[in-house]
Amino acid sequence: MVRGQRDLLRRGAAALALALERAEVAANLQAQRDALQGANRELQRSNAELERFAFVASHDLQEPLRTIASFSELINLRYADVLDDRGRQYLSMVAGGTVRLKRLIDDLLVFSRLNAQRDPLRPVATESPINEALSHLSAAIQASGARITIGERPTVMGDGRELTQLFQNLIGNALKFCRPDTVPEVRLDIQDKGPVWHFQVRDNGIGIPPEYRERVFGMFQRLHTRDQYDGTGLGLAIVRKIVERNGGEVWLDSTPGVGTTVHFTLLKADGADA
Ligand SMILES: Nc1ncnc2c1ncn2[C@@H]1O[C@H](COP(=O)(O)OP(=O)(O)O)[C@@H](O)[C@H]1O
Ligand SMILES: [Mg+2]
Repeated sequence: MVRGQRDLLRRGAAALALALERAEVAANLQAQRDALQGANRELQRSNAELERFAFVASHDLQEPLRTIASFSELINLRYADVLDDRGRQYLSMVAGGTVRLKRLIDDLLVFSRLNAQRDPLRPVATESPINEALSHLSAAIQASGARITIGERPTVMGDGRELTQLFQNLIGNALKFCRPDTVPEVRLDIQDKGPVWHFQVRDNGIGIPPEYRERVFGMFQRLHTRDQYDGTGLGLAIVRKIVERNGGEVWLDSTPGVGTTVHFTLLKADGADA
């Protein structure tokens, strides 16, 4: 009888200890969860601040840049004959720098605008953004004599302006990173993959080494110097942002010296076939 009571007591004490331990673990977990939520909120706040900073800075840089551009053009028009060769050379370097800075600011603005809230996704027939992208690239297409083949043009969920930018950046890269003495060939293929359309932009250009296939999607990541290939290093970062914002994924595969294929998916428009 006494032994039975002692056993009972012992078991009761063990159960109590276990319950206490559980309560402590639960309290710890809750504290960790609270800390994580706090850190998350702080991260969101500082991200929003950084995005706002990038937008305001790039927007406000446009005005002084316009002043530099128009006055160096004026100096060129009015005073080019008064300057010696070296003076004219310096002036043309100012002009070149201005053009590059303008491109950089334009790309930064495009990139930071993609952080803004916008209307819900809508069905977009890709016919029109593809054609618009090709028309923006017409000078490069003509200059290179590129052959461009485009398959199906399905309807996707997205935003027309963003999709134009997406096709323009990818086809633009396919034209730009071509091998010397090779006519660029660019193919845009589209496959039906259930809930999404799978797009592939394939070129016969210089290719990208395997170790850089992820990195080139980061901001300002370029594999060449400006005198080899011009650019801002923001094109693929913009592409990734647009695709992810529209519910898709983007990746690439490539064989150096043979060509590159950029893959991306976009959600099908409800009830739309092609
Ligand atoms: N189709 C391609 N073929 C070979 N290299 C490419 C291709 N597209 C992108 N790259 C590489 O990835 C880098 C980043 O591309 P991007 O962000 O569009 O910058 P940009 O075109 O301004 O250099 C490029 O500088 C280039 O090195
Ligand atoms: Mg580019």
